[in-house]
Amino acid sequence: MALSSGLRQHLTRSGRHSDPWGRYYTSPDVSRSLIERIEVHKPTLVVELGSGSGSLCSAAADRWHDAQLVTVDVDHRASNRLDAKRAGPRVRHSHYVHDALDAALSEKIGLRLGTVDVAVCNPPYIRPRWRSDFGKILEDAGLSGVLTSIHDAGADLLFLAQNLRLLRRNGKLGLILPDGLIAAECYRGVRQALMRQHMVEQVVQLPRRVFKGTEAQTYLAVLSKMAGETHQVKLRQMGNDGSLSEIIEVPQDLAAKRLDYSFHARTGLQERRGTYQPISVGMAVKEIVRGTICSSAIAAFPAPIFHLGDFVAPAGEQAVRIVSKRFALGERAARIAVRDARLALPGDILLARVGRGLENRLALVVHGPCVISDCIFALRTTDEYRERLYRFFESEAGRHARATSAHGVAARFLSKTNLSEIQF
Ligand SMILES: C[S@@+](CC[C@H](N)C(=O)[O-])C[C@H]1O[C@@H](n2cnc3c(N)ncnc32)[C@H](O)[C@@H]1O
Repeated sequence: MALSSGLRQHLTRSGRHSDPWGRYYTSPDVSRSLIERIEVHKPTLVVELGSGSGSLCSAAADRWHDAQLVTVDVDHRASNRLDAKRAGPRVRHSHYVHDALDAALSEKIGLRLGTVDVAVCNPPYIRPRWRSDFGKILEDAGLSGVLTSIHDAGADLLFLAQNLRLLRRNGKLGLILPDGLIAAECYRGVRQALMRQHMVEQVVQLPRRVFKGTEAQTYLAVLSKMAGETHQVKLRQMGNDGSLSEIIEVPQDLAAKRLDYSFHARTGLQERRGTYQPISVGMAVKEIVRGTICSSAIAAFPAPIFHLGDFVAPAGEQAVRIVSKRFALGERAARIAVRDARLALPGDILLARVGRGLENRLALVVHGPCVISDCIFALRTTDEYRERLYRFFESEAGRHARATSAHGVAARFLSKTNLSEIQF
């Protein structure tokens, strides 16, 4: 299915940092695309938590004319009406101004738990202060034991869990999700638990920058509650013009690792090439050293520190970008600096760990040990792999690998685990 042109322009969102309710609004095109993906026959009860301007529920009303629609938003300015042109005259709609993360929500909005046919949701991008309600919501949804820390419970996960409580068995959940739940290592357990308990039907990677002013990577996901274990997930990618890629089917163990199309498309391509045995970055390095000096401490540190702005621009795949001599420490200076900082050593390959365009930042340490900031990884490799690894990161494939392994909503970053898993 192709979306109408100008997909990007249709999505607007308010500043993610400044907005306490994590509001950004889905365009009619993306809303329709999510609703179309939900395979269901004549649902009678459809719910949207965090309904905002009403784009998703209007698209739902457009498709399911006879359904009863219930929407909830904590913001009293959120729209309490459906788009009149799209919702047919038969649609019954009730809107509630309420906190969707209230553990007793169902009573407040007059619904019984486990009765909803379809839930659609584009949750806010915030990390609300932890409350005991959240423990109850996660527990009821079978997700309480899967987080390593309660600090990982963002609104996306909590809204997902609250929707699961409301849904009936075989009820459908259509979500718009940010990168974290889809690709971050800390949510591997969540992905695994969801796939063991429910049928995760498909995940569609949306084009980057569809949300104005951000590089946030977002996804459409559809799951069917307790409809059997997920053995294979269908992954697709949407282009800027709204066209959809072919489907990649990924088995559960790989899908638990990550659910983004671009990661699996790349891994599959490397396997198909078959000219040499690909190995992982983790296998080719002795250590991945992360710097410790944060940017605010750079100016006061007694030695020069290699930071994001010190990478030089690429000069072609054959050139080698060498760390400037001015960062090289003599023996004595290095002995002093190592007391307070992590050093990169000659032979180390430096990569950016965070930030816009991190996939373009690459350098080789040659002249002497140097102090690195906490935004930099130093890959300590062996003579056997140094050149192959460096050339890979300088190549188009290496850039793509880093770009697609990095995740994060407000700022993009590459974790040690994701970096180690890149095949080259
Ligand atoms: C990302 S916006 C999505 C809006 C709309 N669903 C859409 O897709 O255009 C998230 C919405 O959640 C609402 N929200 C944030 N925290 C909430 C809470 N605790 N309970 C209910 N709504 C909340 C915000 O006001 C906002 O309208």
